Amino acid sequence: MNELNKSKKLYEKAKKYIAGGVSSQIRILEHSEVPLFIKKAKGSKIWDVDGNEYIDYIQGMGPNIFGHSPEFLNKSVSEDIKKGMVYAAQFDKEIDVAKKALSILGVKDWTVRFASSGTEIDQLLIRLMRGYTKRQMFIKFEGHYHGGLDSINYSVHPDLEYAGNEDSPIPVPESEGMDLMTQENIIIARWNDLEHLKKIFEKYSDRIAGVLMEPVLANTNCIIPDKSYMKSVKKLCEENGSLLAFDEVITGFRILKGSAIKFFGVEPDIATFAKSFAGGFPIAMLAGSRKIMDLVGEGKVYHGGSFNSNVASIAAANISLEKMLKDEGFFESLEQKGRVLIDGIQKISKDLNSDIHVQGLGSVFSISFTDKDHIKDWRDHFNFCNEKKYKIFCEIMFKKGIRLSSNGRVHLSTSHSLEDIEETLKKIKLSLIELKNYNF
Ligand SMILES: Cc1ncc(COP(=O)(O)O)c(C=O)c1O
Repeated sequence: MNELNKSKKLYEKAKKYIAGGVSSQIRILEHSEVPLFIKKAKGSKIWDVDGNEYIDYIQGMGPNIFGHSPEFLNKSVSEDIKKGMVYAAQFDKEIDVAKKALSILGVKDWTVRFASSGTEIDQLLIRLMRGYTKRQMFIKFEGHYHGGLDSINYSVHPDLEYAGNEDSPIPVPESEGMDLMTQENIIIARWNDLEHLKKIFEKYSDRIAGVLMEPVLANTNCIIPDKSYMKSVKKLCEENGSLLAFDEVITGFRILKGSAIKFFGVEPDIATFAKSFAGGFPIAMLAGSRKIMDLVGEGKVYHGGSFNSNVASIAAANISLEKMLKDEGFFESLEQKGRVLIDGIQKISKDLNSDIHVQGLGSVFSISFTDKDHIKDWRDHFNFCNEKKYKIFCEIMFKKGIRLSSNGRVHLSTSHSLEDIEETLKKIKLSLIELKNYNF
C-alpha cells in the first residue's frame, strides 16, 4: 500500500514554483513521506495521483459536511453561475441564505454579513467588538484559533516555556514577522476556568471590549466546557459592559442542534460562521444582534470584499442550508454516526488497554494519546497529550488507507457510511496493536 512516486515527483516540481510546495502550511504535515497530490475526491473518499484510496476524515478541514463533491450542490452551483459569478451588487438568494441561517440559529432580531473565509470574518468581529464598545482590549484564550492574522495569531498552541505562568499567561506570537504592537490590546487567558477570568475582569474591567472564544474548543482536543461556565462568562460580560463573541467557524452548522448557541442555550452578542454551511465552497458570515450589527450596516465599522456573497458560494450555502432544514434530524443523525465511531474507539481502547483518547461531539471530535480522562484546556493538552504518539498512529493509519488530520480533529460528513466506520475501527485496532512495538 501507498506507493507515492507520483506525489513525490509532483512535490519536487511544486517546490520549484510554490514556496515549500504547498499552499497552506498545515498541508506539509500530511502523514505521508510527502504532501499528497490528489487526483479526485468523492463522498467520504479521496484518491491520490498514485491511485491510493483513503477514507478521508480531514474533509477539507471541515467544510465538506456532505462529503466531497456532493451532486445536489454541484448542480445548484453550476446552474446559478451560468447567470454570472461576481456582481458587486445584491441578489435575492443572499437574503434567502441569511434567513435560513438565522432560522437554524434560532436567534431573534439578528442580522448578518457575508465574506469568504473564517480568517477575515473573525477580523470583522474583532473590529465590531471594538467599534461597538469603544474599547480596545479583548480576551483571547490559549489553544483557540481565529485565523492567522497579526491581530489575533497569539498563543494558539504555545510552548509553555514561553507562555507565562498559569495565573497570568502572556501572548506568544505564532509566527515570525507579526506586528507585535497588536499584543498590547490582547489579554491572553486560560479557558474553562471561571475564577481566572473573573480576576482578569477585576483587573481590566471597563477596558475589555469583549471575550472571544471557540465555544467548543475544536482546535484543542474538541473540549466541551460546562454549560455553567458559558452562562457565567456571559454574565461576566454583561456585568462589565463587554461583548461575548463565539467563533463558530467549526461548530456552526455542524454540531448537535446546528450551533453552539443552541447547544449551550447561551446567546452571544455576536458570532462568526464559515466552513460547513456552503458544503465546500468559500463562505463566512458574521451574525449578531441588530443594534450591534447596525454599526456595520451604517458603514461606521467598515466591511467590504469583492468576493463577498459571490454567486457560487451563495448558491452552495443556500442549497446546503435548505438540506439541513429539510432533513429532519440532520444534525442528530450526523452526531449519531460519529458516536458509533467514538464508542467503537473507546471499546477498542479498553480491550487493548490503550491510552488512545477521544473527546468532543460525534460530528467533530479529537483523537489524542493521554492517560487523563479529560483534557480541559491547552495547558492540559501540552502537559499530558503525547503528540509524537499521535503522529506515528496517523502514519500507520495512513498506510492502511485512513486519512486523519495532523491536529487530531476528526470531521464526520453525511457521506461517511457505517461500512466506512466499521473499516476505520478495524484499522484503528490493527494500528494500535502495531503502535505497541514503539517506545514513547
Ligand atoms: C475556529 C476557527 N476560526 C477561524 C478559522 C479560520 O478560518 P479560514 O481557514 O476559513 O480562514 C479556523 C480555521 O480552521 C477555525 O478553526
